[in-house]
Amino acid sequence: RTIAIDAARVDKGGYKHFMAKEIAEQPSVLKNTLSHYQNADASEVELPDHNIDLAHIDRLTMVACGTAFYAALTAKYWFEKIARVPVDVDVASEFRYREPPVSPGTCALFVSQSGETADTLAALRYMASQNATILSVVNVPESSIARESDLVLPLHAGVEIGVASTKAFTAQLAVLALLAIKIAYARGAIDAAQYRTHIAELNRLPGLISQALGIDGAVQDIAKKLATAQDIIFLGRGALYPLAMEGALKLKEISYIHAEGYPSGELKHGPIALIDKSVPVVVMAPMDPLFDKSVSNMQEVMARSGQVLLISCKQGLKTAAEGTWAQITMPTTPDLLAPIIYAIPAQLLAYHTALAKGTDADQPRNLAKSVTVE
Ligand code: G6P
Repeated sequence: RTIAIDAARVDKGGYKHFMAKEIAEQPSVLKNTLSHYQNADASEVELPDHNIDLAHIDRLTMVACGTAFYAALTAKYWFEKIARVPVDVDVASEFRYREPPVSPGTCALFVSQSGETADTLAALRYMASQNATILSVVNVPESSIARESDLVLPLHAGVEIGVASTKAFTAQLAVLALLAIKIAYARGAIDAAQYRTHIAELNRLPGLISQALGIDGAVQDIAKKLATAQDIIFLGRGALYPLAMEGALKLKEISYIHAEGYPSGELKHGPIALIDKSVPVVVMAPMDPLFDKSVSNMQEVMARSGQVLLISCKQGLKTAAEGTWAQITMPTTPDLLAPIIYAIPAQLLAYHTALAKGTDADQPRNLAKSVTVE
């Protein structure tokens, strides 16, 4: 059984697809999401009322499916690096039957756009039976997952119609980043100045996303070539690795082209065997501390005639674009925001490749928006 969404009640607003509309509305969606999670002078992250002792979360177990799983995997980098909380992340269908042992002080965090995904809900019930504290990040506040949580963090992203999640994904990342810095500060892992700096960085999201959306025309040209490919590889490092997997998922969901996301550093342990001039390789490389390493991984691809599409900021492209097949220019971003900003090219590449192939971006074959059976 799947949930039918009454698409007729929501307008496409002049866009060809709901997906295009939902991509375009991300600046205002994120502005709205952020406004629900801070005080008037943007000095504090504010969560809905709860009685969870954030300073004493010893372990965070995150469980989700599909795109929400990649949001959780991205957030692992933030929770571990900024808040110094150990994190496990798993897909719900595996987690629920593994019945992992749960140590005291574990918080379980479930990420789900619909709040109704059967496997995620079953995983939640397992963690509740083990007396874990249950947190959820959902877009539908009256959903089953929300109802069974100790603390619900709603996305406030509005109804999402496109089967391939876009605005819910960036809103999930924003809420998870807010939670990570809130917990980091509560635990004393960051000081007040760092906490405020991160809040200020997050408030730059709507503007930076608007700027990133300016690549639409450039992506249309690139997509014409991607649409002729049989296989596409996405590479990223650090918090951009989950995003590489999300970019590949988005592309396969709506264009039906086989795509794989890989951590750049793992390339030499297998996938490099696939590289030849017919395989486009999308490299997501913001100018962060891992930039040079990403570039050297990219050069290994080019040395084997791989066709590299390099996504980086102006400075990054200036340093490393030589020999690449195509480039997409991103705004310069604080490290914290990079996986959220780089979600825009991931979404637009999938969307325009689907358009170029003539597939239905909103209703891809065999997929449902919400999967309420196993
Ligand atoms: C389905 C959808 C995906 C979504 C996943 C999880 O597979 O096609 O786009 O990411 O379910 O859905 P949820 O509502 O739990 O986020």
